[in-house]
Amino acid sequence: MSTNEFNPAQYKAATQQLWQEMAPGWHKWSSSLFSELNRNITNQMLELAGIRAGSRVLDIAAGDGDQSITAAHRVGPDGYVLATDLSSNVLAYAASAAEKAGLAHLETRVMDGENLELEDNSFDAVICRSGLMLMPDPKTAMAEIYRVLRPGGRVSAFVSSTPDKNPWLGISVGILRKHAQLPPAPPGRPGTFSLGAPGVFKGIFHEAGFQRVVTHYTSGSLPLSSAAECVELLKDIGLDSVLVSLGEDEQQQAWAEVEQALRQLEGPDGFVSPVEGIIGAGLK
Ligand SMILES: C[S@@+](CC[C@H](N)C(=O)[O-])C[C@H]1O[C@@H](n2cnc3c(N)ncnc32)[C@H](O)[C@@H]1O
Repeated sequence: MSTNEFNPAQYKAATQQLWQEMAPGWHKWSSSLFSELNRNITNQMLELAGIRAGSRVLDIAAGDGDQSITAAHRVGPDGYVLATDLSSNVLAYAASAAEKAGLAHLETRVMDGENLELEDNSFDAVICRSGLMLMPDPKTAMAEIYRVLRPGGRVSAFVSSTPDKNPWLGISVGILRKHAQLPPAPPGRPGTFSLGAPGVFKGIFHEAGFQRVVTHYTSGSLPLSSAAECVELLKDIGLDSVLVSLGEDEQQQAWAEVEQALRQLEGPDGFVSPVEGIIGAGLK
């Protein structure tokens, strides 16, 4: 097998291990920054998924459960939220937040988004925030979502758009991959921007059989104190995994180049990067 050949099973195992290890780093930034940054996106997703008091909701790739908790408040004690993810360590934060908030109708379960161990037609709504693009086969994930939704149920999901519209990450990933001598990821490979090109995200809703498919762009900004803080964030959310094949000195050089490049996003108010994503929704 050539080194460039993609092995979905290996990729998924590596993804699971990565998220197990970086769960504390992810939760640190999720709770202090991303939660607030994503508040409007989450509310729009819940609205588009038709989530209301009493709904049964499945959250896929739920992470530390930020959006699952919001959904659980919305459905109330007569509803139900199942927060699922590949990583038990990130889900542990969701379980603990639910317990603290007294949300006994929120459960967590380790589950692969491409292989939902759930009955057909068993949920009113499915949500997936920043998860589908990390799956090797998002079309299979969408088919699974379609299967577990009841007729008349709705899905809503969010993905990042393109690297140029999310420069804090786009610039950094480009530099790190160059240092690791990795070519740009070919189309169709999983990754933060894999569903972000025009039409791609909408296409996977249609292909799964969803009706009344809508997508719209969201934009915002990521505020940090400095380029150095952005590097700290990138390391905490696992970007140093791109450099595993390099020695300590080479890794430091790569990160120095990232920090230097990110200084173009510094200004009188500190560091601000634009962010852009796409919300999609559909009806079964
Ligand atoms: C960027 S985080 C998003 C977490 C959360 N939804 C949020 O928006 O804060 C991506 C999550 O996807 C999960 N993930 C990646 N591949 C997955 C898969 N095949 N099935 C389920 N979860 C997956 C990771 O473990 C991680 O928690």
